[in-house]
Amino acid sequence: MNAIPFARPSIGPAEIDAVSRVLRSGWLTTGEQALAFEREFAAAVGSRHALAVNSATAGLHLALEAVGVGPGDSVIVPSMTFTATAEVVRYLGAEVVFADVSPGTLLIDPTDVRTRAAATVAGGGRVAAIVPVHLAGETCDIPGLRAVAEEFGAALIEDAAHAFPGSAHGAALGTHGDAGVFSFYANKTITTGEGGMVVTDRDDIADRIRTMRSHGIDREAWHRYTAAGTTTSITETPHWYYEVVAPGYKYNLPDTAAALGRVQLRRATELREARYRCARRYLDGLSDLAADGIVALPGDLPGHAWHLFVLRVLPAGGRAPGGGAVDRDALIAALRGRGIGTSVHYIPLHHMPYWRDRYPEAVGRLPETDRAFREIVSLPLYPDLSESDQAHVIAALRELLGAHRGE
Ligand SMILES: Cc1ncc(COP(=O)(O)O)c(C=O)c1O
Repeated sequence: MNAIPFARPSIGPAEIDAVSRVLRSGWLTTGEQALAFEREFAAAVGSRHALAVNSATAGLHLALEAVGVGPGDSVIVPSMTFTATAEVVRYLGAEVVFADVSPGTLLIDPTDVRTRAAATVAGGGRVAAIVPVHLAGETCDIPGLRAVAEEFGAALIEDAAHAFPGSAHGAALGTHGDAGVFSFYANKTITTGEGGMVVTDRDDIADRIRTMRSHGIDREAWHRYTAAGTTTSITETPHWYYEVVAPGYKYNLPDTAAALGRVQLRRATELREARYRCARRYLDGLSDLAADGIVALPGDLPGHAWHLFVLRVLPAGGRAPGGGAVDRDALIAALRGRGIGTSVHYIPLHHMPYWRDRYPEAVGRLPETDRAFREIVSLPLYPDLSESDQAHVIAALRELLGAHRGE
């Protein structure tokens, strides 16, 4: 195990108390905690609806289903993402079209999205949705993507798995399209262990997701079995009665997780500030390496959620103390040898056997994604990363990348 892990959740006594209270309450599945979490999350991001689900993967699946993605449709996603962003398209029988990232970034390029949308339509297809990923918590080009979505009549579903509590253009990330989907997986900016949230201002999307996340049943268990439910539901209908209106899914968030999420949500600003302080220390500690062209650093942009700190090791930039060039793979191995955990976000999807075999045309046609993949390494970044541990990481990077030259 690494002495300095890549990620670690920040869980305190308030989280433990909140989950313990649920465990003692007798109601463990989706109930009043989940409903409160939804209300509080909707208020935090400023959306009309927030729907708690048991993962962002589930949320992306539900959002695409709700906007009508189906067999024969195409959905444009970046290849530079986690497989969840694309796999949900295949759940629905639709086809994935991979788009490149903008040069020097890890964010989907609206110009390339437009080119691929036009090619899809020219081939007789329909672009049903575009799913940008605010990778690392950095904002995609929202106006550019919105323009393409409007031109092709496609839904815009933000994969905001990394993006809470980020913002752009005066509004929270995840609220700029038809729907946005957040992840509360264990390494995310706020966590419920496993969990997610879909936000939308569209009543039709919210209604459909509410039904489909719960087996296609018209009322959820909480509404069927509690007094609160009977007063808000159709009063003439017996409490035990429900109807199945579609073959739905089992994607609801239990109250144990929601209680944890409510505490994390209250701490969101504090947690984001702590991540930002870590990011700032990397930016300051490595700025001369960037000036020398050894690495590229992320921008210190307002509204960045700072889920990840992704360093780019530029080709032939670094020189190891022994004189050999340092590449990304060698750097990761050397950091690991010093007990420092890192990760790579992401191995592009078109490099994966399943995606490569299904869409061979993407191979060799995503040059900026391929270039980025060779250079990226995600450094340890979490609220409880101590200054001394981070100083150790920065010193190791400086030494391994040859910053000692001329010192
Ligand atoms: C960009 C992106 N989208 C979607 C997901 C899926 O999130 P979850 O694990 O909550 O299903 C992840 C998970 O890490 C992710 O990084």
